[in-house]
Amino acid sequence: MMDRAWQAVIAVALGAAMPIGAAAQTTPLPRLERVGDKHLLQVDGRPFLMLGAQANNSSNYPDVLPQVWPMMARLHANTLEIPVAWEQVEPTEGQFDFSYLQALVDGARARNLRVVLLWFATWKNTGPSYAPTWVKTDTARFPRMQTAEGTAHYVLSPHGRNTLEADKRAFVAMMTWLRDNDPDHTVIMVQPQNEVGAYGQKRDRSAEADRLFAGAVPAELAASTGRNGSWTQVFGPLADNAFNSWYTARYIDEIAAAGQAVLDLPMFCNAALGDPFARPGEGGGASGGPDTPVIDVWKAAAPHIDFVAPDIYLTDPKQVMEVLRLYARPDNALHVPEIGNSAAFARYLWPTLGHGAIGFAPFGMDETGYSNYPLGARELDEATVEAFAAPYRLFAPMAGAWAKVAANNLSWGTAKGADGEPQSQQMGRWTVRVTYDEWQFGSRDSPWLKSDPTPTEGQPVGGAVAVQTGPDTFLLAAAHARLSIGLTDPQRGENGTMLKVEEGTLQPDGSFAVRRVWNGDQTDYGLNFTRQPVLLRVTMGTYQ
Ligand code: DGJ
Repeated sequence: MMDRAWQAVIAVALGAAMPIGAAAQTTPLPRLERVGDKHLLQVDGRPFLMLGAQANNSSNYPDVLPQVWPMMARLHANTLEIPVAWEQVEPTEGQFDFSYLQALVDGARARNLRVVLLWFATWKNTGPSYAPTWVKTDTARFPRMQTAEGTAHYVLSPHGRNTLEADKRAFVAMMTWLRDNDPDHTVIMVQPQNEVGAYGQKRDRSAEADRLFAGAVPAELAASTGRNGSWTQVFGPLADNAFNSWYTARYIDEIAAAGQAVLDLPMFCNAALGDPFARPGEGGGASGGPDTPVIDVWKAAAPHIDFVAPDIYLTDPKQVMEVLRLYARPDNALHVPEIGNSAAFARYLWPTLGHGAIGFAPFGMDETGYSNYPLGARELDEATVEAFAAPYRLFAPMAGAWAKVAANNLSWGTAKGADGEPQSQQMGRWTVRVTYDEWQFGSRDSPWLKSDPTPTEGQPVGGAVAVQTGPDTFLLAAAHARLSIGLTDPQRGENGTMLKVEEGTLQPDGSFAVRRVWNGDQTDYGLNFTRQPVLLRVTMGTYQ
């Protein structure tokens, strides 16, 4: 915090004496680093965990920002994800106005917040609603996809060269503005476009698109899939989707590359998800977006897109867990740029962290009064905000240290399933077990002490994360859950035991600062985590 304030002072002082470009060198660029099979986001040259929140779709105006900032504080968020619309920065072709970005960057910097900019342009939830009027109305210059019947579909075609060039020009102008006006990188990342692809039909059916579709898959894609041939031969029932994915991803990659040539910020694309368990081509997400079946196509097509990311509004916990698993890849950092903002979604922070994620952000978090129920919360009342704020409050003071320890060690996280049944994971010679709906004393199936059901019974709350920092040591954090650790495969006469359970926090250097030691009632019936999560360091041992 202090350092950033000082950096800003120094940057301003340097800016007075030398060009901004020189001042920019004082703050390292945000960047993604691969750590084994996981990833670390470095901001200011230090590990960073995005405890994020995304504002509503129309909150991207200076006069509305005062209704955004208070929610960031209530949530203990450190990163605001917010749109910047093509229509607002280039209402007239070639004339740019970045006054909104100035207000945004100034406001965030003053509050020690970081920003992820969402470039709403050619595609926003697939449609061109955020493109300027001069783009939307000139279908000869900026063609829409064609239907099989030869009529206009609502989506701008990814085969439209003029559209690409116009979008790219505006995007580069924005990145240039950031390079020249955000020397300390308040904006840490950019999402070019939003939930791209198409609904209603799976690809452009124009003559040009049909010609490309009839040909062979591009050489780069053939190399990455290891298969040559037509789109249908290589992708079968996924062919239309893969085709639209390839050309959409290529289009965005060219824009991202041009922007990165000016200011090399990490960039990502978000996906409107289908059912991750569906048969190929039948999942129902936006065709062409970076949905689960085409992650590999996107990886091959868009080398300048650092990662693709899931927008999670699925309500089946099994689907959510599968989506997290599918996007957390050695070649793809896991970030959840959107998740529904009803309290039930808050528990998925735990498995997200368990995958060593770089960030998480509930969607629709501001005080404009808009609610996207039934997708998200009916109302952002205190209890709903608190469901997200409670874990953020724990992680905010140690976010960087947590990101580092989770990236560098075996980690696992989980959330309560639809059945509320226990869950477990082997970690080294130990098995971590999570149970739900227990009181803090005794066991629900204990014959000697009868109890009522807990208030969480049947409720979608609860989750946990475990990081194994050594053969016998763990960091545990959880909410509404009971954790226990036992030997997976005890030898004859061997007993596992918790030697020490310490509550505390991680210091910036990664060391553990102890607040108190748990014992007696606090450990006799497992480690009981309440609505206010805490961090525990647990040292296991054995006796014969
Ligand atoms: C997903 C989109 O990415 C968001 O911008 C928003 O439209 C939500 N859906 C719905 O509120």
